Amino acid sequence: MKQERVTAVAPAKVNLYLHVTGRRDDGYHLLDSLVVFTEFGDRVTVSPAPDLTLSVGGPFAAAIPNGGDNLVLRAARALQQAAGVTAGAAIHLEKFIPVAAGVGGGSADAAAVLKTLMRLWELTLEQGRLEALALALGADVPVCLESRSAYMGGIGEDLTAAPDIPKLGILLANPGIGLSTPAVFKARTSSFSDNARLTPGELATRTDFINALSTRNNDLSEPAVSLVPEVGDLLVALGRTDHCLLARMSGSGATCFALYEDQAAAEKAAESLGNAWPDLWLQASNIR
Ligand code: C5P
Repeated sequence: MKQERVTAVAPAKVNLYLHVTGRRDDGYHLLDSLVVFTEFGDRVTVSPAPDLTLSVGGPFAAAIPNGGDNLVLRAARALQQAAGVTAGAAIHLEKFIPVAAGVGGGSADAAAVLKTLMRLWELTLEQGRLEALALALGADVPVCLESRSAYMGGIGEDLTAAPDIPKLGILLANPGIGLSTPAVFKARTSSFSDNARLTPGELATRTDFINALSTRNNDLSEPAVSLVPEVGDLLVALGRTDHCLLARMSGSGATCFALYEDQAAAEKAAESLGNAWPDLWLQASNIR
């Protein structure tokens, strides 16, 4: 039966650690990162329509470019071409994730559009074709197709499912200043790090897991802080919240996160941090 309308959540992506391990000749960087997803995210809905159109709502709608270079429309067009589809679709995006913020908003939306359009248009693609389409749209799009905890290698395309990680609450915090990913990579001054995948022992308990993450960092936080010092202040403030287990930056920033035993602790931290720093965007959730 033809699908009338298909909806998917596009969960926010968080890099629990991110090591820059090298640089390719084309300028892209090789990464080693443990990527997880939150229960919180954007929402994408696609419905049958003769042409491809995009409407955007939600708290961050104003920050989304509506023109042809929008990543969601580019994703839809790429799939349309790859599969030889003549139908269109009305795409609606409810934007709850801050934009250009290191939590994969645009990548998550692009991945969700690919998945929902596959269902709306009843497509099957050869193995690996969807992943290649996703990678061509952005280095973080492939990992967002599955939205499951994964180790990310290469420039983002080399994915390995991560073993189950302990249940944790998370607080996302953004100072409201956008950071350009290329600019952050360019501002790096430190040498390359090693791969640092966790051993089974480091995943045994929540304490083991947090201890292991404490010895790993986000190599992009130093250059991000050099560009936007507020990120450094935010990391300190998150680390000082009650019951915080770990505070780090995600991706190329400027969103930072703190981990807690559960969402209730993350919500309490959001309350106290919001009182002290009213302009901060804050969202408590769980890791999926
Ligand atoms: O592919 P994406 O649009 O996510 O990346 C934006 C920019 O970030 C790239 O053009 C590149 O300058 C930088 N980047 C990088 N290494 C990566 C991912 C991104 O240098 N692995």
